[in-house]
Parts: sequence; C-alpha cells; structure tokens
Amino acid sequence: MSSTKRSKSSDSDAYESSTSDRDEAERANKRRKTTRPAPKRSNGNPGSVQQLLSADGAPSVPIEPCALPQRQHILSYHRPLLLDRRHGRDALLKWFDGTSATRGMPWRKPWIDPSSVPDPAALREQLERRAYEVWISEIMLQQTRVAVVIDYWNRWMEKWPTIHALAAASPDDVLAMWRGLGYYSRATRIHEAAKLVCGDSVMKGLLPSDVVELEKKVPGVGRYTAGAITAIVFGEASPMVDGNVLRVLSRQMGVLGDVKTDKATIDLLWSSADALVKAVANDTEVDEEGDVSKDRPRTSNRPGRWGQALMELGSTTCTPKPNCAACPITASCRAYGEGLQSATKKEKLKLETPPAPTDIEDVCTYCKPFEEYAEMDGDEEGTSTKVPTKSKAGTNAKDGKKQSSLSSFFTSQNGSSKTKPKTATPSTEPDAATLEKISNHARKFPVKTIKKAVREEETLVCAIRRKSDGQYLIQKRPEKGLLAGLWEFPSLLLPEAKETTTKSRKETATKFVHELVGNEVKHVGELGSIPWLFSHIKLTMHVHLFVLSDEKSADAELGKRSRWSDDVDSESMGTGMRKCWTMIQDNDT
Ligand code: ADE
Repeated sequence: MSSTKRSKSSDSDAYESSTSDRDEAERANKRRKTTRPAPKRSNGNPGSVQQLLSADGAPSVPIEPCALPQRQHILSYHRPLLLDRRHGRDALLKWFDGTSATRGMPWRKPWIDPSSVPDPAALREQLERRAYEVWISEIMLQQTRVAVVIDYWNRWMEKWPTIHALAAASPDDVLAMWRGLGYYSRATRIHEAAKLVCGDSVMKGLLPSDVVELEKKVPGVGRYTAGAITAIVFGEASPMVDGNVLRVLSRQMGVLGDVKTDKATIDLLWSSADALVKAVANDTEVDEEGDVSKDRPRTSNRPGRWGQALMELGSTTCTPKPNCAACPITASCRAYGEGLQSATKKEKLKLETPPAPTDIEDVCTYCKPFEEYAEMDGDEEGTSTKVPTKSKAGTNAKDGKKQSSLSSFFTSQNGSSKTKPKTATPSTEPDAATLEKISNHARKFPVKTIKKAVREEETLVCAIRRKSDGQYLIQKRPEKGLLAGLWEFPSLLLPEAKETTTKSRKETATKFVHELVGNEVKHVGELGSIPWLFSHIKLTMHVHLFVLSDEKSADAELGKRSRWSDDVDSESMGTGMRKCWTMIQDNDT
C-alpha cells in the first residue's frame, strides 16, 4: 500500500499514546453535557489529588456508597479504600499468588532477590536477562492476548535469549518474528532500543532500574512499560497501569469517568495506583509484631506481584462484564457498594450523610453527571431518571433502616498490621440475583468512550511478475507509520470517497505500474478483493497481476526501496499482504 496519503500513523503505542493525548481529552471535556452548575474543576488540581491520596487523607467519618441515582459526592469519596485496609491489599496478593501460575506464562519467574546473589557480576547478568524477558513480554502483551503471546515469546527467546543477541539480529529477522502481532513499528523500536542499550557505556545491556531513567533512556518505553519492568524485575514501588487496571481502579474508587480520553481522570487513577503500590511496598516494612523495622530492604517482590495482580484481576474477573462473585476485593469496591445498596434499597436503607463539602473545590468533578449516565444505560433498578438537578453533594441520604451488610462493608478499617485482620468480603454474601444487579451496576464503570468512526479505504495491490525469471517486484514501506518497514507488492491508496469500478481500477493500476516499470507490462487481471481491518481503518485491497517482459528499463528505474524477490514467502510482509500473496499464487499459473 502506498502510505504517502496517510498523514496519521496508526502504528503508535496504542495505550501509551492515547493517555497523553491532551487535545482529545480537551475535546472530550467540551462534549460533556453538564446539567448541574459546573464547579471549578478540581480534577486537574494536583494539590487536591495529593491530599486525597495522602497518608492522613482518610476521612474521619466513613463515607457510605453513593446513593443512586444522584451519584453526587465530595472528592474524598474517591479515596481508594484499599489505601486504609492492609487486609484488602493482602487479599488481592493472596488471590494473585494462587492464580498466577495457572495461565502458564513463561515470563513469570520468581523475583531475583539481590541479597540472595552475592556475586555482583552474576547478579548483573541475571537482572539483565530478567529485565529483557519482562520487557519483551510486556510489549507483546500490549499487542494481543496472553494465550497468543506465550508462543511468540517462547520463539523469540529461543532465537534471541539475550538482549545482546537481539541487538545483533537483522532488522528483517526481527520483523519476521513479529509477523502476525501487528503494530510492526514496535518490533523495529525494540530492536533499535536493544542496540542502543547494549552500545551504551553505562547500561551495557542492562535496562535501568529507575522508572524515570528507563523512560528517558530507552526509546519506545512509556510509563506503563517502565513501571512494569522496574516493579517486576527490580522490585521498585512503581505503578503499572494498563486498560484493565484503569477499569479496576475506576470501579474500586467509584470514578464514573472516561479513562480513555479524559486526562484528569487518567492522571487521578495513575496517582492512585502509585499511592497503592507504595502502600503495598511499605507493608513489608512492618514486622510480625507490627513494628517498623529499620534495616529492611527497600525493594521486594511485592510491587511486581501487586501490579500484576491488578492487571490479572482486570483481565480475568473485573472484566467489562465483571464476575463480582469471584472478586477478592469487593469489600473496598465503590461500584460494588453502590450496586449492593441499590439492589437492596427496597429495605429502605438509611445512609449516613457524608460530610458536606465545605468548599466548591471539594465537590467531585470527575464523574459524569448521573443524568447522562441514566440516559445512556437505562435505569435497570426502575428508579426515575428525573433526577433532581439541584441536589448538592452530601444531601443524598434516604430515610429508612440501615442495612447491616452494608455498614460492615464500608466500615473504615485501620491500615496497620496491628489491627486484627478482618474478612475482606461483606459478612452476608449476596444471593445470585443481587450479585447480578451489582455486576450490572459495576459494568457501567468506567463510562464508555464513543468509538472513532472506522475510515474506509481502498488500495490497489499490484503484483508484477518478471517474465524472464518469475521474480516479483516488492517495495519497502516507510520506516514510520502503518506497517512500518515491511515489504509489500507495489500498492496505491485510492482517493477517499470516490466510487471505483473494475474498469477504473484497471486503468489506475496500469498507469501506476507503467510509471514504475515502463510500458512493456501486461495487465493479467484483477484477481479479487481482500478486506482487511486495522484498529481504525477498514481497508479493501484489490489485487492486480501484471507480467513484465522488458526487464532492462525496469531495473534502471528501480529506487532504493524496491527490489525483485525470488522468494516472496520469506519476505517480511504484514498478514494482509500475505493474504494477497496467497491469492496471487492461486491465480498466477
Ligand atoms: N498484562 C500485561 N502484562 C501483564 C502481566 N505482567 N501480568 C498480568 N497481566 C498482564
């Protein structure tokens, strides 16, 4: 495909780039229809977020789940309850320890405890290898599902067991190994980065253990990957937040925000993940008697286990349609609490009134107004969607009897290990129907982002076979953008919004091929059309076959990025182009 007309690359790091797209976030904010007076936005105020997550930020009075349908509350409502509940943190770690081996991920290995490897050279070598393995696994996991990655990762490690071996590989081999994973520029970036890390006089093949340095020094490593490597390999208390973790935290904290495009919401969740992993890392710093030990190691396996536990929970249990019955941390989940309260409201709950905001700055402005939320998802509990728009945060209490399981659910518990561990689940297990209602409520978190329309494109894929030796002309795609650096048959992207016919495509393809290799070329025919879907482009590839009889003029015209190939099967091509090749082989007799 010709990429000259594609101004926008789709081949960027999908998650890490979207989280930093300020323009899009701002546009999204403008789209928000706010039917209550908009308080000055405290979302972006790092001061209030810092206070929310600080060690002394726990409200003195426990804040009950938001009463539905209003869902108006003060900012402190979003303080992650796990920050103040050591037993909840332990429950998630325990759950992860029990489940982490079940999916057979070969890159999951025991943490290398530096104190257990006294020889510095041996330790360095082990860490170098581990960091490399985790780095490759994390980049692959950003592409596709665990089950698919396992095979790719095993083959990769067999071919290049060390970062030095990867650095010495040929670019085409790297692309070939990545074939089928998509986002090919990532493979090239990993390769370039490996060369840089090995050639650097300080790193000499060992990835930095500091998250800032890692992001700064190693191209293609964003904050997610840097967090994962430093936590899993080096035991640093750094957050790793992927799409699954954003969902888990938005539910845990009851943030009904847009975790894809609203930068303030994304920042809040990252900051919360940071505070949580630091709390988890610190948990090790309390010995069995509850005393803080002075000479404990600063790093441990806990941050890595914790980060992976959140990701794993998000990918197996707290999925878009969650299985709340299997979740080990429902006791601290705001979405669960709200769902439980809503499901049992016929019992006329009397909720404690949360502290009224003393300042407009204290009102949460992260959450979507409930009016929009109700319109969007329907009112499953049968409550009126006509919500009083003037109600203030802190005035959403209802009359009636307080439900016992709820009060135990949200009782504030001390984070110290001196506190006797309490059960992490509500004392009364909800029945199946109630759980269903709870899950239905939880699945509304985070708010759904309206997907960008998929662009439809058509391209002419022109296979030109040289009559004399049967070789095919191939071209290398640009080093940046969609399918970067891969080989393809000469391709021409057609202008958008123009109807094409078999006849018009034949004319355009013939003109294009004449310009490439001269006039001594015969159009054999349009062999067929192959649909191919990228994340944001619906592409139709019309495959044309030509046979060239005059070789001399063709050779003279070829540029640096074109060559004849006698073995198309072994060229690094994207999966879509490979489908075209199958069609060509089936038809070129
Ligand atoms: N998703 C991406 N990386 C992961 C990891 N290390 N553990 C669990 N899920 C993941």
